[in-house]
Parts: sequence; C-alpha cells; structure tokens
Amino acid sequence: MRDLTPRQQDLDPIEIASRDEIAALQLDRMRWSLRHAYDNVPFYKASFDKAGVHPDDLKTLADLARFPFTTKSDLRNNYPFGMFAVPRDRVVRIHASSGTTGKPTVVGYTARDIDTWADVVARSMRASGTRPGDIVHVAYGYGLFTGGLGAHYGAEKLGCTVVPVSGGMTERQITLIEDFRPTTIMVTPSYMLAILDEYRKAGFDPTASPLEVGIFGAEPWTNAMRSEVEAAFDMHAVDIYGLSEVMGPGVANECVETKDGLHVWEDHFYPEVIDPVTGVPVADGEQGELVFTTLTKEALPIIRYRTRDLTRLLPGTARSMRRMEKITGRSDDMIILRGVNVFPTQIEEQILKVQGLTPHFQIELTKDGRMDRMTVHVEAAPNAASGEAKAASAREFAHHVKSVIGVSVGVDVTDPGGVARSQGKAVRVVDNRPKE
Ligand code: DLL
Repeated sequence: MRDLTPRQQDLDPIEIASRDEIAALQLDRMRWSLRHAYDNVPFYKASFDKAGVHPDDLKTLADLARFPFTTKSDLRNNYPFGMFAVPRDRVVRIHASSGTTGKPTVVGYTARDIDTWADVVARSMRASGTRPGDIVHVAYGYGLFTGGLGAHYGAEKLGCTVVPVSGGMTERQITLIEDFRPTTIMVTPSYMLAILDEYRKAGFDPTASPLEVGIFGAEPWTNAMRSEVEAAFDMHAVDIYGLSEVMGPGVANECVETKDGLHVWEDHFYPEVIDPVTGVPVADGEQGELVFTTLTKEALPIIRYRTRDLTRLLPGTARSMRRMEKITGRSDDMIILRGVNVFPTQIEEQILKVQGLTPHFQIELTKDGRMDRMTVHVEAAPNAASGEAKAASAREFAHHVKSVIGVSVGVDVTDPGGVARSQGKAVRVVDNRPKE
C-alpha cells in the first residue's frame, strides 16, 4: 500500500485550525442555526417554547444542552416538507430514507447546501487518500438514498473522474474496475465483500486490482473487517459516516494516515454524546448516543438530532477536529440475550477470528419457550466447506462468542453462497420471534 497522506497545504485551513478558532466559529454558526430553525420552522418554535428556551439563551456551546432533542418521529410527523426552513422553491434536491416501518423521512437541500455537502465529501475523500485526477468508482446506490449522489458530487468537487455505477450487477462492477482502472471505490463494506467474491470467481487476483483506496460506510463495520479487506485487495480501507437527516455521507471521515476513528467535520456538524436513558451529555471519551446539530444547513436545519448510533468522542489527531470512534452499532440493533447486550459488530469480530469462515453472516432471533435464541448463519470459506471443516469452524466460533461476549449462540455454517448478499446496507438481524 502506498503512503497517501495528503499534503498539509491541500487541507482546508479549518481542518488544522486551533480548538479556539473552531469553537469560535461553531458558536457563531450555532447561534445562526438555532435562530434560523426557530424563526422558520413551526416545529422548532413550538418545541423551544415548550422547553422554555430561546435562541438568545445560547451564550456558550455548552448552552446547547438546554435545547430539546429532535427525533426521527419528529421528521415523520412533519412529513413530507414540514421541517423545511426555506420556501419549497428554494429546495433544489430531495432525499428520503425508507426506514423499516412507517413513513419515510424526507430531507431537502438548497443549492448552497448541495455545495456544502460536496465540500465535506471532497474533504472526506482527500482525508481517505483520494486525489484530484483520480478515477472514482461509486457503487453506493443512486436515488433517494444519499450514498450515490452524495459521493458523486463530492468526487466531482475534488476534481476526480467519477464512474457512477450505483449498486448491483456485481459482474459488471468487476468488468468496469478492470477496464476503467479506478483507484478509489466508494461502497458499503458488505457489498465490497460481494465484489471480492465476484473478483475471485471471475479469475482475477484482487491484490492486482487497480484499487488503492476504499471509502466504506453507511453501515457498521469493524477493524477486523478492515484488515480482511485491506489484505484481500492490498488497498487502504477508510471509514465514512453520515446520515440523511444531518446531510448524507461526509459528516465524519477517517484519515488514511491514522485510521484511528472518524474526524467529525465540526465546522458544519456539532456532535454531542448523551446518555441514551437520561439524555444528559456525557464527557468526551465516554460511550453513549451520538447527537448532531447542523451549523450551516439552510433547507433543513436540525437541532440535537438523536442518531441512535453508539460511539464516543475522542480528541483530534491527524486533524484538530474531534474524532468519533468507529460506531459500535445502533441502539435499535442491540440484541439483549439473557441480559447480555450484543451488537452485530461483536459477532463480526469473532467470525473474522475463524480461518474457515467468511464475513458473510446474518443473525436470526427466535424464541425457545420463553427464552430468546440467537442463531448466527455464516458462510464457510470455499476451502473449508466439508461437513467436518464446517463443524470445526462452528465449534471454534461458538467458543469465541462464549468466551469474549459471554453468550451461547446457535451456529449454522452454510456452504459458500448460502447467506443472502447485500447490494447496499446489509440486513444483519432477522427477528423471527413471534409478535406478542
Ligand atoms: O447511510 C449515509 C451514508 C452513505 C453514509 C454512504 C456513508 C456512506 P442513512 O441511509 O440516512 O444515510 O443512514 C444513516 O447509517 O445513522 C448509521 O446508523 C449508519 N451509518 C452510516 N455510516 C456509517 C458508518 C447513510 N460509517 C445511518 N459506520 C446512520 C456505522 C453507519 N454506521
């Protein structure tokens, strides 16, 4: 792998500004954003009034904690355009996330928002090691999902040649990579694994692929998975985070030279971590639920949005902006098995310790009398697919899960290809427990 550390002179000055400069900018922008939301969105006026706070009450950044949270259901209740803070004809783009139940959440962007978004994605890509002039293969889905178009505009802004492939048609992905020779790929980590399988199936050596940088996000993935993909393709694998309610991809990104968590682009998105039960902010370094306030967004300012993503904030390293640790998981995806909290990312880590298994997996929840039962369906590696090898892998995996996570799980090691492939975000948990 080549050293792809960007040159200092290519960074945005704010990326390496002092903490005082960053805080001063944040306070100015936060005042504007609270005022903008309060004056232009009836929902925020009502929710601030109810909480007895006014935008003028923000004297320091810490005062933000006095303002009420915004949740996904607030967006749903104001479906489709009720959260917009600008007249509809200033909104140049709509995205939406489907969610599993109920109405989708709809988000909008002004022309300036689209430009800001392209800037933060370009910054994220540069942090990942991508450079102007590079060819970028975008395999995030294009459409209402923010992944494809978000990556696309950022790549153009950085000065790259974009190949807008979108997700799916995996064989064609391989042909395009081999023929067009992109050096960067942007895709979900789970779909990257499907691409890896297809690479081998097509008889190509993935380590000889032109790819040097993978910018992976939209779902949780572990450092164990990073090592796996980096070794398989001989490429850098870097984490990108974001969510449609806050912007889309490019809210935070790792730096290729450190790969030690994601720097939050704090000049546009103000992060807090709260105790998910009490709602009280916790100190940096402590685990909790990530909450974001946008500082510059015009069409859809969002104040203290509860993401349900669990992580902690850490001081800056390669940049002065703070880092968030790789996401452990969403509180919605946390499985409580006989009193023990289990996240799919913990299962992924244990799978990757077993030689005979591949990281294609799905967790199934069922009921065994009154007890919840968890079965992990996971694929055998092609060279470990005999009955005996599968049984040995299952035993080894169950042992790791028991000794590291502390729960007993059922294991179903399938033949290669036995677990459904994702073409975007992988579905890691299938709940087959009878509805009460
Ligand atoms: O997934 C935006 C995105 C696209 C991010 C492409 C990165 C790359 P939503 O569909 O609104 O937006 O889903 C947002 O996905 O709250 C997290 O739970 C999860 N998520 C996104 N990035 C990561 C990541 C896009 N790097 C939700 N690690 C978020 C873990 C992630 N989870």
